Amino acid sequence: ELDTSVSNEFTLAMIKPDAVAAGKARDIMHAIESNGFYIIAKKYIQLTEAEAKEFYGEHEGKPFFPNLITFMTSGPIYALCMSKIGAISAWRALMGPTNSKEAREIKPTSLRALYGTDNTKNACHGSDSTNSARREVLFYFPDISFPQLVDQGDLRKY
Ligand code: PPS
Repeated sequence: ELDTSVSNEFTLAMIKPDAVAAGKARDIMHAIESNGFYIIAKKYIQLTEAEAKEFYGEHEGKPFFPNLITFMTSGPIYALCMSKIGAISAWRALMGPTNSKEAREIKPTSLRALYGTDNTKNACHGSDSTNSARREVLFYFPDISFPQLVDQGDLRKY
């Protein structure tokens, strides 16, 4: 019987331009699936400047913002909608710390340690909350038709 005391959760991952250009997208997707995530939707896309600025709108005005936009529009990425119990925190743990240099010191098996370079070129992105997960999933997949996304307005409820 289905255990309804635990909730499936959705999150949005990006495989960033550095990792795609280095030919690491397949390795990262393999790690994702090996760690029990289901990839529900996948898109290969090169963001326009306007799209990148919209996606990262919360960081507008920060000193690193122009650099972040230049990097994120520099080549194609993969956007992935993924699901798993506790997907948001599980994906952030698998990625490791934001800065790949720090990741190599404190979490050398993490994806950012393995595939990234620094604070900017850090191989992958993950939503940081249920609200940002919903916003970011719908940014890339506006027609996603899972009822738990559309009806309940809360990615945690499955
Ligand atoms: S913050 O201010 O604490 O919310 O910022 P942080 O979470 O560390 O980083 C947010 C995203 O910005 C990227 N970042 C940078 N890009 C370019 N240059 C510099 N110096 C820089 N520092 C941080 C970082 O990779 C984060 O990207 P995402 O895609 O959200 O992981």
